[in-house]
Amino acid sequence: MFFHLELGALFLSLSPLSSLAALPGDHPSQTALSQAALSDILLRGLPILGPDDGCSKTLNTCDWMAKIPDDTPLVRMNLPGTHDTSTWNYSATTQASLTRYTGPLPSADIFRCQERSLLQSLNDGIRVFDLRFAYNPGNDTIGFYHSAALLAPTTTMTDVFFGLYQWLNKHPTEAVLVSINHEGGTGTPYDAKIQEMVYDLINSDIGKRYWVQTSGSLGTLGQARGKLALLQRFTFDLLPAYKTNRIGIQLDPGHWTDNGKSIELVYNVDKGLTAFIEDYYASSLPLTSTPSQFIEDKFNVTTAHLGNATLFNHDQLYISFASAAAIVGGVGMTPRFPSSAPPTSRLL
Ligand SMILES: *[C@@H]1O[C@H](CO)[C@@H](O)[C@H](O)[C@H]1NC(C)=O
Ligand SMILES: *[C@@H]1O[C@H](CO)[C@@H](O)[C@H](O)[C@H]1NC(C)=O
Ligand SMILES: *[C@@H]1O[C@H](CO)[C@@H](O)[C@H](O)[C@H]1NC(C)=O
Ligand SMILES: *[C@@H]1O[C@H](CO)[C@@H](O)[C@H](O)[C@H]1NC(C)=O
Repeated sequence: MFFHLELGALFLSLSPLSSLAALPGDHPSQTALSQAALSDILLRGLPILGPDDGCSKTLNTCDWMAKIPDDTPLVRMNLPGTHDTSTWNYSATTQASLTRYTGPLPSADIFRCQERSLLQSLNDGIRVFDLRFAYNPGNDTIGFYHSAALLAPTTTMTDVFFGLYQWLNKHPTEAVLVSINHEGGTGTPYDAKIQEMVYDLINSDIGKRYWVQTSGSLGTLGQARGKLALLQRFTFDLLPAYKTNRIGIQLDPGHWTDNGKSIELVYNVDKGLTAFIEDYYASSLPLTSTPSQFIEDKFNVTTAHLGNATLFNHDQLYISFASAAAIVGGVGMTPRFPSSAPPTSRLL
């Protein structure tokens, strides 16, 4: 069996060399066609991906991981991330343009958690994204939502992944952790077909090239450079039995305690791997508290968790959300920062 594989590999490495010149992929018009197709995909992805304004000339945030040794475990790194990443352009204007799909919704401010686009965030050095998907019935695709707010009417998960792949091509030293979560409360169906669409996307030929294929642990930076690592916050419980491939780590939503200050979520029993998570988004202070008291409460919980990350369990994953919301008397408050929530926090 092993011998067989070796032969296959040898064959594969020789045949492209001998046939390269004849490959249609080399034809200039084929290249032009590929570029046009990619442009089309990226244009459709624009509302979520946002513009790519390029790299800062003074700060080396675009490629900061280049300086970190290959053998560094990802769980030992301090990786800044953004909560509800795709909401960066959700304004009253965006909301008004989408009312025909969503019906009337509360103020757009409540849904918006970020101000920088995905591509700007990557250039800024953000390396963990929190993406929320749901079925977009009007297009029969996987779209992006924050609760009932559809964030873009035609952008698909495929489009956004291609945008991330293209960014990684330009920044091959960088590794990006992508948390993918099924967004509830959208009022759209969630069934086997939707899970298959996501599964097929990640397991496509191109998906296999850009997603770290290891399952059950995050591995090292070297293994993840130029790639996306999956933090799966939904389960593939409706897939047909033969779709068995799993990549990344599975953070079972059933064990992700709602509003937890200090969740311990075991994601790999055999290896004893646990994610320590602070996801305290709704303060338990009385509603009569002042905004600064709410913020101080959140600040205390977050800094306690970050402190623990520096003190304990150095080979475990810590995820700390610095974002929270308080809706008092119908008025929402969602603090926003350029890079609001560092989901993965581990001081190097
Ligand atoms: C951001 O939202 C505004 C208002 O809806 C819209 O005009 C603009 O095209 C959006 N930007 C992108 C990149 O989609
Ligand atoms: C779906 O696609 C159609 C045709 O491209 C478009 O007009 C519509 O706005 C899209 N979105 C939704 C949510 O139906
Ligand atoms: C936050 O922590 C500080 C210092 O320990 C404490 O004085 C303060 O009461 C705490 N605030 C809240 C809202 O828990
Ligand atoms: C910090 O670690 C201590 C000791 O393990 C634990 O009792 C406490 O709950 C942790 N706090 C947070 C906020 O994670």
